[in-house]
Amino acid sequence: MIKILMSGCNGKMGQVITKLSANFDNIQIAAGISRQPDKFSNPYPVYKSFEEVQEKVDVVIDFSNADLIPQVLDYCIKNETALVEATTGLSPENNQAIREAAEQIPVFMSANMSLGVNVLIELARTAAAKLGLSFDIEILEKHHNEKKDAPSGTALMIADEINEQLDNTMDFIYDRSQKKEKRKRNEIGISAIRGGTIPGEHSVFFAGKDEILEIKHTAISRDVFGTGAIRAAMYIASKKKGLYDMKSMLKEII
Ligand SMILES: NC(=O)c1ccc[n+]([C@@H]2O[C@H](COP(=O)([O-])OP(=O)(O)OC[C@H]3O[C@@H](n4cnc5c(N)ncnc54)[C@H](O)[C@@H]3O)[C@@H](O)[C@H]2O)c1
Repeated sequence: MIKILMSGCNGKMGQVITKLSANFDNIQIAAGISRQPDKFSNPYPVYKSFEEVQEKVDVVIDFSNADLIPQVLDYCIKNETALVEATTGLSPENNQAIREAAEQIPVFMSANMSLGVNVLIELARTAAAKLGLSFDIEILEKHHNEKKDAPSGTALMIADEINEQLDNTMDFIYDRSQKKEKRKRNEIGISAIRGGTIPGEHSVFFAGKDEILEIKHTAISRDVFGTGAIRAAMYIASKKKGLYDMKSMLKEII
């Protein structure tokens, strides 16, 4: 049985994972962390801080906020616990601290835990390799009106992968309102829309002369991220220290 500490357990994703965990017989949420521990009635104890946690766990799944990252890493290193890090909107310092933690513990990190988005990235890399020098590349993402970070971690992940495919020659442009000039060829435009309850939508456009290729992924519900995070927890529970992601997991399980 893999025991999980669910960080952000009373948030939208924490509650999705709490519900989905009942479908897996080899995992159990042993405890949770929340700013408001009494917000929901959960089938496990919920603490306000990591210092209060009594249970011994194998993996921490973190869907919370960037400001909690130092405490999450501190707990995992002290207790030699594997980490599935799903929180987005991370600072360069957060990312550096996560990379350093992965020298001591197993860390699985992905800004998008869905299988579909990770296939979208592979398709976008192929399109960039074939069209990138003659087509303009734009990314559009849509999310619900409660999302705090913009653009999404997934949009940035897609842009990074395309940029890597194009030998890191691209500039990321988030706002054209102040620039009174035509777009350049070596730009990836990244735009965000926020509204309603949209779980997540990402499109990559390759716009050429008289033709447009659009690669699009739509998350119909948050369950896709929840299932991905639980699979990641099962995958990483038996791993040695190091940094893992969807690519490494998909290579091994599919
Ligand atoms: N990687 C993925 O596939 C994926 C998918 C969906 C959401 N996310 C990301 O996961 C994070 C959470 O998403 P959500 O929709 O569940 O958000 P949410 O706001 O509904 O939930 C976040 C929860 O974390 C708790 N929290 C935040 N800071 C805390 C702190 N300092 N101490 C204790 N608890 C704290 C909040 O109280 C809240 O319950 C966001 O960064 C989001 O972008 C990632």
